Amino acid sequence: RGTPVSRQEDGSYVVSTYREIVALLHDPRVSSDRRNLAHPPAAAEGLPAAFIGLDPPEHDRLRRLTMRHFGPPHAPGKVDGMRAELLEIITGLIDGIADRKRADIVDDIAYPFPVTVICRLLGVPREDEPRFHVWAEEIVETLGPGEGDMAERARRRQAAVLALGRYLGELAEAHRRDPGDDLLSGLVTDDGPDGPMSATEVITTAAMLLVAGHETTVNLVTNGMLTMLRNPWLLERLRKEPDLVVHTVEELLRFEPPVQFLPQRVALDDITVAGVTIPKGSSIVLALASGSRDPAHVQDPDRFNPDRAYNQHLGFGGGVHHCFGAPLARLEAQIALGELARRLVNPRLVADPPAYRPSSTLRGPRHLDIE
Ligand code: HEM
Repeated sequence: RGTPVSRQEDGSYVVSTYREIVALLHDPRVSSDRRNLAHPPAAAEGLPAAFIGLDPPEHDRLRRLTMRHFGPPHAPGKVDGMRAELLEIITGLIDGIADRKRADIVDDIAYPFPVTVICRLLGVPREDEPRFHVWAEEIVETLGPGEGDMAERARRRQAAVLALGRYLGELAEAHRRDPGDDLLSGLVTDDGPDGPMSATEVITTAAMLLVAGHETTVNLVTNGMLTMLRNPWLLERLRKEPDLVVHTVEELLRFEPPVQFLPQRVALDDITVAGVTIPKGSSIVLALASGSRDPAHVQDPDRFNPDRAYNQHLGFGGGVHHCFGAPLARLEAQIALGELARRLVNPRLVADPPAYRPSSTLRGPRHLDIE
């Protein structure tokens, strides 16, 4: 077992063991609101934080409100009701590459699939999807440390956030005047005990869902395809036992998680973890990927094994911020990987390892060419 808590040169604390991460995810002295940092970042992000960056009670009110409208029309919260629609979308995408000698799993399948789904859920017109692609990519690739000058990255990020915010503000206004049965219409017309959302809250919530819906599931599907291509036994088994895809997706979330760590937490008080005191106002980084491979928690952690009887991973975080989209992301990945395994005939990886995205927080190949 490694060192559970280590102090970095920049003064932040990285926590990398399962038990300690879970304890901090559930600790009310740990905030998700960056304004509580001893030295809050000077560069404005462009928009106020969405509920992923807020603490209770504001967080809870906005999350509840959003949950009430999330899911298939007339059955919010019940994403299983979207199974047929998801299957239809993935079938169309796989049909598009069926006769080609070469395809890119990222650009042809894993990216357009969740983008189409989240745009339909939110009520974004199809012709506007390419614009989102550009903004969402820019927002995620400039998140946290990475390639290039920090100030330039912050400037690019802010420009993309503001452009997305402006667009969503106009779209929300159009849905207020003429509501449909989509999420955005639900948010702008809700007059229940938690509503209504302010215009800014609608924009930040919708922007968060769009970015989350664009940039995470793509990596789960791509990491899953890469794992199948590297392990032909897995591809074979998924063809013979289609239900194995459920446990395969859970094991991917543990073994190859799209979200490697949560860089956003702040200590509201002095907090002692595994003998180390994290001072009030410090930044805490929760290394989810490392926690999911903690040998004190998982047997044989560095082996991909979809037959684990017990698989309690940190792929979706935990506590009050546990991934809001987890049921949708699971269903999307199960349907996409199940159909890819069933329909692709002898797929072969063109380059191994493929080129990865520049982000250090979100992990997945930028392209995954197969022939
Ligand atoms: C939160 C992972 C897909 C919406 C989170 C968190 C993780 C995560 C680790 C915790 C963040 C934190 O504690 O600070 C993933 C992964 C996905 C995925 C691995 C795909 C494989 C989605 C999708 C949506 C979504 C498809 C929306 C449609 C959210 C939201 C939060 C969240 C809104 C914030 C929840 C809160 O603060 O209460 N996700 N996510 N996620 N996720 Fe996901």
